Amino acid sequence: MSGNKTPNKAWGGRFSEATDEFVTRFTASADFDRRLYRQDIQGSLAHAQMLHGANLLDDNEYKLIEAGLGDILEDIESGQFSWSIELEDVHMNIEAALTKKIGEAGKKLHTGRSRNDQVATDIRLWLREEILNIQDELLRLQNGLLNLAEREAATIMPGFTHLQTAQPVTFGHHMMAWYEMLERDKGRLQDCHKRLNRSPLGAAALAGTSYPIDRELTASLLGFDSPTANSLDSVSDRDFAIEFCAFASLLMTHLSRASEELILWTSAQFGFIELPDRFCTGSSIMPQKKNPDVPELVRGKTGRVHGDLVALLTLMKAQPLAYNKDNQEDKEPLFDAVDTVRDCLRAFADMVPAVVINKDNMRSAALRGYSTATDLADYLVGKGLAFRDAHEAVGKAVAFGIKEEKDLAELSLTQLQKFNRSIKSDVFDVLTLEGSVNARNHLGGTAPEQVTKAVAEARKIMLR
Ligand code: ARG
Repeated sequence: MSGNKTPNKAWGGRFSEATDEFVTRFTASADFDRRLYRQDIQGSLAHAQMLHGANLLDDNEYKLIEAGLGDILEDIESGQFSWSIELEDVHMNIEAALTKKIGEAGKKLHTGRSRNDQVATDIRLWLREEILNIQDELLRLQNGLLNLAEREAATIMPGFTHLQTAQPVTFGHHMMAWYEMLERDKGRLQDCHKRLNRSPLGAAALAGTSYPIDRELTASLLGFDSPTANSLDSVSDRDFAIEFCAFASLLMTHLSRASEELILWTSAQFGFIELPDRFCTGSSIMPQKKNPDVPELVRGKTGRVHGDLVALLTLMKAQPLAYNKDNQEDKEPLFDAVDTVRDCLRAFADMVPAVVINKDNMRSAALRGYSTATDLADYLVGKGLAFRDAHEAVGKAVAFGIKEEKDLAELSLTQLQKFNRSIKSDVFDVLTLEGSVNARNHLGGTAPEQVTKAVAEARKIMLR
């Protein structure tokens, strides 16, 4: 124990010995929460302006604080600021630097405020900005998908269920499925922003403050929609961070699914697409290898974002009101989720428009695997059969085709008629891949015409 040094200046009045050296390191957050410096200064400027309006700071004190905080911002951004873990966190580092710079007036900044409402404000301001950055990347990716879907609206590939060839679909339709997942993610992100955008400033430590503060003013200066309603809740609430991580987790789940498909499609066994070299790496031993590292990493990073969500949920579980030091642990998972999601979206937004489509391979894969069997069954229903009987007849035709190593379209009319006499030569129209996808021409169907419509609809929504 280092019992002989002087206690911490900011709160050491009632202490008779200095903090243990290890405890200083253990409890400090400056190494990571310094990332909030800009928001911390922004919050302090608004708080100071409000204190001035309430006559809690005189003109000169307010001017000094305003200029001092401006200088500190410059110092930090030019790398001149020296951070100290002795000063625990970003808030006390900045406050101490202010007092060092401007003297007595600096000591008045914390009037009517606590680090508890201060940190809650800072994280909200920080996350609000990051949400907008992430939304930009999300929109960029969605635009890339729309362009790809439009271009490949009529490109045919096998659609899968159970990863077995099911029915032909269009590549554009598949891209629009990804788009829809992201559209829901975007809704969740915007929803998170809406609930986040309220100002906890003025809740002070937990109960509010005895000074005549103006919470409406600080809320509006900081661009919040309104102040939060309850001081206890304000300093303890981290729902917005959890909601963000929930959004991020689901988005990552979606990106991991898209990644998995890209990885499969680039394999020699599928050969549906190629990723440009700039998104891939090679192997140090196998000269032929070109590995889809970017989608693989996105798939892998999904785990850490899910971990961030669980970390925050567990952090908040069973915490009594109001602020607890536990809450300092909110930052690293949140920062990690934000950084990871932003990078993954960026990688995807760059990569998706550059995907090279191998239409021939998609087409021949769709031609294998009896992907038009349902179309033949539907044809027989059109000739008056009950669907179950049609299903049975086509099943037999497929078994025959497997034996003969022929697709349904490659069987002769006479061969097909063995399975049902009502089959006529017009059957070959429905057994083609084009016939199959064009037949699914209704809202949400895979027909090229529907894909084109869906792209146009989506563009309208995105312009709103
Ligand atoms: N560094 C702290 C955090 O991140 C700031 C609030 C500290 N408040 C306190 N009463 N110790 O949560």
